[in-house]
Amino acid sequence: MTTHPLTPPIAAPSILSADFTRLGAELAIIDPARDWVHCDIMDHRFVPNLTFGPLVVAAARRVTPALLDVHLMVERPETMLAAFRKAGADSITVHLEACADPAAVLGQVRATGARAGLSIKPGTPFSAAASLLGAIDLLLVMTVEPGFGGQAFMPDMLDKVRAAQAARAAGAGHFLIQVDGGIGPGTAAQARAAGAEVFVAGNAVFAQPDPLSALKSLRREIGA
Ligand code: DX5
Ligand code: ZN
Repeated sequence: MTTHPLTPPIAAPSILSADFTRLGAELAIIDPARDWVHCDIMDHRFVPNLTFGPLVVAAARRVTPALLDVHLMVERPETMLAAFRKAGADSITVHLEACADPAAVLGQVRATGARAGLSIKPGTPFSAAASLLGAIDLLLVMTVEPGFGGQAFMPDMLDKVRAAQAARAAGAGHFLIQVDGGIGPGTAAQARAAGAEVFVAGNAVFAQPDPLSALKSLRREIGA
């Protein structure tokens, strides 16, 4: 059995930009000992876009033993945790803005046995997440407005990455710091310099002519 990588830096290609007619072949570039697979779930309510559900996560689960990192951009995520966990999610991230009681929802994520992630949108300050840092395994700092792949990286979000690093160093919790949106050549290095540890990349990997070589470049740029 593959041990999932939990020591940063870690590349997490997002299948949002993959060719779903050949998902198995696309996922063959992932090294389960080094990389995660990021799955973007959108409900056309929390975000304008609509993507896929547990069925596709289960399909990914059948073709790779890699850590499946499920990013729920949905309203009322607590209603879907069991289904995604059953489909094979190893880590489940919910949005702070989508939860009436974020602490309770994070507890419910952990109760499924999955690692618990908390995400904040660009307009949400780091301080809004501060009281929850002891209850999470992953803090996802969105570096674009969630909803679509291929958007431009927002460098101002790196202040939140720095704040998360500082809070953790001061004893606020034990969590990895993830960035998501517009990560690729140049921006990955900027995020790394700010202290990001897990790097989601959709377009910069799966929309490239040679996704494996793009993934290798990303790993090199983040030092993985
Ligand atoms: C955006 C999603 C991202 C998306 C990133 O809402 O959360 O994970 O796949 O795509 P790129 O890397 O193309 O910006
Ligand atoms: Zn995502």
